Amino acid sequence: MTRPNESPSGACPIGVFDSGVGGLSVLKALRAELPHEDFVYLADAGHAPYGERDEAYILERARLITRYLLEHHHIQLLVMACNTATAAAIQPLRQEFPALPIVGVEPAVKPAVALSQTKHIGVMATRATLNSTKFQALLASLADQAEFICQPCDGLADAIERQETSKIIALCAYYTWAIGQFGTKPGDIDTLVLGCTHYPFARDQLATLLGPEIHLLDNGDPVARQTRRLIGAKAKAFGQGQLTLQSTGNGATLHHAAQQWLAVQNPVETVSV
Ligand code: DGL
Repeated sequence: MTRPNESPSGACPIGVFDSGVGGLSVLKALRAELPHEDFVYLADAGHAPYGERDEAYILERARLITRYLLEHHHIQLLVMACNTATAAAIQPLRQEFPALPIVGVEPAVKPAVALSQTKHIGVMATRATLNSTKFQALLASLADQAEFICQPCDGLADAIERQETSKIIALCAYYTWAIGQFGTKPGDIDTLVLGCTHYPFARDQLATLLGPEIHLLDNGDPVARQTRRLIGAKAKAFGQGQLTLQSTGNGATLHHAAQQWLAVQNPVETVSV
């Protein structure tokens, strides 16, 4: 017998969550890599943004969402499509839910070191991600390989969530100016890490500000490949994957973003978690 939220094929979906629409940038890569899988995407918009909250709050939200996705959707794997939630919660939640494979997202600083010629790298992320012990340890492990200029971008994820175009442009201009001199000469910053899953949706604005020579790096594709590796032989080989969209906040925002960025018209269910 099919369980209530199982897909018609009988396979359990992959759960994906973020504080809002940002994780759609990861979901897009996941659906391209695993086109036959079913996904349930939960935007915790009723409790966003996470980036200026404390670690205990973010961990509790991630815990409640994980439990909800397991109980209501019987997910086979969880993708935390949020750098901020990954930094605060992935280690404790892997211990609390040992049977559930969990894939996280972290700022692409390692690929940035490989790509940068000048070895001067800008990192845009939320304040909570940059301050986390997990990110600080990652940065320390690369400290002898490049210079990193880290910029907390208060308000940017929220402006992207609300699609406030002029505010997005103003914040991108301000934060890239604050990071320093971009370019390809020695000492210039030639690579910018988009360390929040919302920021790829400001990629065009950032590329316009910085020019075509600056590398802009996010983590959607590596996360999708890692998810495929973990699913392994259980990955479905045919059929069209189903997508369920849910939000704890304004469903219209997620519906509009999914339409714009994923070209899907799926309805959004409002849930209380
Ligand atoms: N999209 C999230 C991230 O990757 C966080 C945005 C927020 O809620 O502040 O960090």
